Amino acid sequence: MKITVDEKRQVFLLHTENTTYGMAVVDGRFLEHLYYGGRLEDTDIRYLLRTDEAPLVPSQNKRETGAFLDCAPMEYPETGMGDYRESALCVRSIAGHRASELAYAGYEVMEGKPKLPGLPATWGSQADCSTLKIFLKDQLLGLKVTLLYSVFAGSDAVVRSVLAENEGKEPVYIEKILSACLDMDDQDFQVMGLFGSWARERHIQRMPLGYGRQNISSFKGESSHQEHPFMALVTPETTQETGRVYAMNFVYSGNFLAQAEKNQFDSVRMLMGIHPEGFCWKLEPGAQFTAPEVVMVYSGEGLGKMTRTFHDLYRTHLIRSPYLHQKRPILINNWEATYFDFDETKLLDIAREAAELGIEMLVMDDGWFGKRSSDDSSLGDWFVNEEKLKGGLNDLVEKVKALGLKFGIWIEPEMISPDSELYRKHPDWAIQIPGRDITQSRAQYVLDLSRDEVVDGVYQMIADVLRSADISYVKWDMNRQLTTMGSYALPADRQGELFHRYMLGVYRMQERLITDFPDILLENCSGGGARFDAGMLYYSPQIWCSDDTDAIERLEIQEGTALVYPVSAMGAHVSVCPNHAVGRTTPFETRGDVALLGTFGYELDITKLSPQEKELVKEQVARYHQYNDLIREGDYYRLGSVRENGIYDSWMIVDKDKSRALLFYVQVRRRVNVKSRFVRLKGLDPEKNYAAKECCFAGESGTASEWIPADKTVYSGRALMEAGMRLASAYGDFRSRLVEFTQE
Ligand code: DGJ
Repeated sequence: MKITVDEKRQVFLLHTENTTYGMAVVDGRFLEHLYYGGRLEDTDIRYLLRTDEAPLVPSQNKRETGAFLDCAPMEYPETGMGDYRESALCVRSIAGHRASELAYAGYEVMEGKPKLPGLPATWGSQADCSTLKIFLKDQLLGLKVTLLYSVFAGSDAVVRSVLAENEGKEPVYIEKILSACLDMDDQDFQVMGLFGSWARERHIQRMPLGYGRQNISSFKGESSHQEHPFMALVTPETTQETGRVYAMNFVYSGNFLAQAEKNQFDSVRMLMGIHPEGFCWKLEPGAQFTAPEVVMVYSGEGLGKMTRTFHDLYRTHLIRSPYLHQKRPILINNWEATYFDFDETKLLDIAREAAELGIEMLVMDDGWFGKRSSDDSSLGDWFVNEEKLKGGLNDLVEKVKALGLKFGIWIEPEMISPDSELYRKHPDWAIQIPGRDITQSRAQYVLDLSRDEVVDGVYQMIADVLRSADISYVKWDMNRQLTTMGSYALPADRQGELFHRYMLGVYRMQERLITDFPDILLENCSGGGARFDAGMLYYSPQIWCSDDTDAIERLEIQEGTALVYPVSAMGAHVSVCPNHAVGRTTPFETRGDVALLGTFGYELDITKLSPQEKELVKEQVARYHQYNDLIREGDYYRLGSVRENGIYDSWMIVDKDKSRALLFYVQVRRRVNVKSRFVRLKGLDPEKNYAAKECCFAGESGTASEWIPADKTVYSGRALMEAGMRLASAYGDFRSRLVEFTQE
């Protein structure tokens, strides 16, 4: 990593291992984007700016400054002066005018990286990252904007954020402040994003970029089930190994906008930041506003490289949890086993059986507090429902511990039920617009976490619960979107700050929780995977991926999630069949193998499993212990996607020194009268030889040679990658197989 500043040419270059990002000052004033792509050492690249082409720069063509602004590749474009593409910044003056004119005002390079106040962000020491700050100023508004760019040793990511400071004498209103902009010539780009719904999160979609604007966004107050704060522009030939990929991912969990725009000159502008819908921030003289971070990755070697760059950055410079590099306890969660219908006896029955099979932690899900026996009441009443847990929480926890299990608990601190003691006492604590009905969703309202007293009040209740017993794990859920946005605590001209202030409140509460309870393993969740984002990973090393626990549905969900996020963060459990979400029946073995690509656990009534299934649980537990270190820490390679081929799904994990690897293969659809398939492996050392071992369950139909050739056990890495591993077609749908490769 290196930051080069050529003061004479006014060129700034950020170098990562294999990429370079550049910008330059034009006419002593305009900060223009210069280059993003494969690594360039050369600073003599101002010719890329085309400043000698019409309409020419303002110093040479004063009569067409508007035309210049509308076609120059701007590093941080603004509203109001002639650039009609989507802007990154829109500021309204006290007089009501919407325009700004930021001019270059200097730079600074620092070792390390400043913290972003109250926000999740990547981090690094002075030795492993450097930051470039570029200062821009609007004289009339007295507005100073600092663009921050950080690069990390050994990584190909460039991380950006924006700081606005009011150095003027009057307040200004920031109506839009996006975090990153990237102007480029079109390369016949396609837009990739992650889309879905509840129980169908983060399915990959790829579509051509046409003229106009294509955006991916959320203004639901959360990163959302439906659209995701990730966008990549890819060249048409892009595969896992080939093609140019320009990706952005937002380190934020609230409203976002990601947009690609192709204009009349076939230039493309890509943007990401807080969604301007519903946003307006009043900046008083002397005040600052920080826009959250965007992680940009360029890969000239396709999607696989991009994925591994995100995974490595997040595992080394984003996730802070002490559990990040630890094998997490195998948990059993009672949600799909009992829903709200449980008591101490039922939980202990589950715990007893689970302990015998090697499971390590019982998680008590929704329904243990207030008078909750359905989702109609009690959110906010964070005290134990003694009808269900007669001896209280500590008593239950001690009994579970005596069985040899740790204990985890579910909470939903951001919410308040209309039918709760808390709401009866503090009706103004709910987000609402006075005079309007509050929109209900799952019969609940959202707490106004922009208010310190609300954050403190709820946090105290939760902290008391966590202190009252030996709790090892917390599942923090959030089960609805934000609506009827209004806060009793904000004046009229600050109501537009509520969405973002709400997120800052959530972050403040989570920060407090992990600070006060450093030994608790925190898992985030939002009605399944509505807040599986980089912001949340700053607080918790794992996030529940989806309420759809069906192994086959999970293939696409986990593929899309792992496109950006480390597999060590994906909450994945084995559940019962027919699956509650889709009614499908899949082999117990396959359910385990798919859940291995994640945190691994169970979500079923283990007391009702057959003896044969219980034996399989023991073997799956053993598999987890055998392979989790490799899966959690290794490099992820995608080999085949059922989304594309309709027949099989396959991925592999290779350890960092390429001495060990694990191949996962799921035959989703059995076909008759077909030959075996050669699956080309990736990431191995071509010069090494590997012994292949098929992992079988005891008593499974078929033998160790059912899928891979029995007469060949050692392969060269080169043959495995160039020609492929031979896998037979097994009998039946939804069959899965693991093959372990160990260097000879
Ligand atoms: C949504 C979560 O995704 C589920 O796992 C479960 O915890 C329910 N909420 C409980 O209400």
